[in-house]
Amino acid sequence: MEGGVTKGRDLLSGRLFVLSTPEELARAAAGRLWGITRERAMVLGRSGKGARRITVALSGGNTPRLTLSALSSEPYRSRFPWDLVHFYQVDERWVSPDDALSNQRMLRETLVSRAPVPPDHFHPIDTSLSDPREGVRRYEEMLRRAFPGTTGGLPRFDAVLLGLGADGHTASLFPGSPVLEEGIDWVAKTEGGDPPVPRITLTLPLLNASSHVIFLVSGKEKSLVLEKILTGKGGGLPASRVAPRRGKVTFLADKDAASRLEGKSVPPPRGGDVRDRKGGAA
Ligand code: 6PG
Repeated sequence: MEGGVTKGRDLLSGRLFVLSTPEELARAAAGRLWGITRERAMVLGRSGKGARRITVALSGGNTPRLTLSALSSEPYRSRFPWDLVHFYQVDERWVSPDDALSNQRMLRETLVSRAPVPPDHFHPIDTSLSDPREGVRRYEEMLRRAFPGTTGGLPRFDAVLLGLGADGHTASLFPGSPVLEEGIDWVAKTEGGDPPVPRITLTLPLLNASSHVIFLVSGKEKSLVLEKILTGKGGGLPASRVAPRRGKVTFLADKDAASRLEGKSVPPPRGGDVRDRKGGAA
């Protein structure tokens, strides 16, 4: 492992980079987000037409904390195109926004309050309402306003940061959940996970319409499920169903999470499978 990162490995479900520590993982993830948004900013700059907006959806949980702190610090703080980037939530627990379990609170503490994010560039899921179903309706409505012209289509996030649960869940899409079969709605209510509270989540069709998905995976407890997903044995696990049709998937994992993949031969990407398109360096 040279300089804390392995050479990217093309796998069945994306590209894997293994970082030596959770801190290295966070820096690599911040670098990846910067790389994606900078590239997009250049394209927008060149085209000069259309809304000059870059859209990034962020997951909750613990692993993103270090990444968002790294993004809010140098060398990314002064380089990141904050004026163009709009941040959305991938999912939320149905708790009040100032609750310690709130993903919105985590995102405010690690990014929004620490980096020069323009006040109207953070679009949280509103959990101050009485009914999570109303939360779903309002968030989908807000996304439809934010992505005009996608009637009948799906909004295309420029980047989506996802985590991975030891049970194979991602976002708040849990194994066996009927929401996994959702084919129309952009946002849904689910139950489960830890904490076992009602949740609001983006659905698979939306995740699979994005340009870049970055999975952040840290810790030994994730090694078995990561091995399953990256060796094509993920079956119907939610995370293994994240496969953007016209997009890239990058797995950034620390050494512990990738410990079961060391020296393991993994099936090469299927021919012509969009997902085997090369991702940039971590
Ligand atoms: C949540 C998340 C969830 C998370 C995974 C991994 O609200 O809990 O969005 O999908 O990404 O559970 O969580 P960790 O990063 O804490 O391991």
